[in-house]
Amino acid sequence: MTASLLTLSRLRPQSLRLGVNIDHVATIRNARGGEHPDPVRAAQIVASVGGDGITAHLREDRRHIRDEDLARIQAATDLPLNLEMAATDEMVEIALRHKPHAACIVPERREERTTEGGLDAAGQHNRLAPIVTRLADAGIRVSLFIAPDPRQIEAALRLRVPVVELHTGEYAHASGEMQAAQLRRIADMAALAVKNGIEAHAGHGLTYDNVAAVAAIPQLAELNIGHYLVGEAIFVGLEDAVRRMRELMDAAR
Ligand code: PXP
Repeated sequence: MTASLLTLSRLRPQSLRLGVNIDHVATIRNARGGEHPDPVRAAQIVASVGGDGITAHLREDRRHIRDEDLARIQAATDLPLNLEMAATDEMVEIALRHKPHAACIVPERREERTTEGGLDAAGQHNRLAPIVTRLADAGIRVSLFIAPDPRQIEAALRLRVPVVELHTGEYAHASGEMQAAQLRRIADMAALAVKNGIEAHAGHGLTYDNVAAVAAIPQLAELNIGHYLVGEAIFVGLEDAVRRMRELMDAAR
């Protein structure tokens, strides 16, 4: 290891990556049908303040990110793009065309307001297996957005994905004892994933108030956070919102 790398690893011994989901910048843009605010500018700001990646979900109904945004986001920064996508032929073709750094397969229902639950990887092995293979063969790092449940980790192992993202929505929406129990599930499943050679990420519903306990789970390598940061950006600007989240995550390690 070179001297500068050594210094860096001492400074940030167990660094946790922050992927910023910029979908809701596009939601606001689309509310008026124009070009402002541009998610590309959001991606550039995230890059300028030390975000580690950009996450974007191209939904079947294109309610926020649109097809043409993907190439523009990829061209605008050097940050890795994590494309959230449903397990459909259309999305696989799009992913293969754009070759994002990573593709996170999520469940998607038209009538939901957001991705409300994890992917049933256990119940959909046969449907997911060829999709995972096609993406992986194209050099895309495949992740599954799953509930923190041992059955889903086992399914991820059978599908040989390198990454799982644990859904933190139930933790985020719970309080007291229930929240503590959800946190234990996330910690246990992150440990189980890592023990089996799968990188563990987490996300959904994370805020300044609830991020620290999740960020403190040592096996987690990345958090993906969107709605709260875009909401905070209205009041303090995206730069400050991302910086503050980064500080809270670093302080928890
Ligand atoms: N990770 C995944 C896989 C998601 O689907 C979402 C929501 O789109 C997030 C993270 C971010 O969730 P939130 O917007 O609640 O921070």
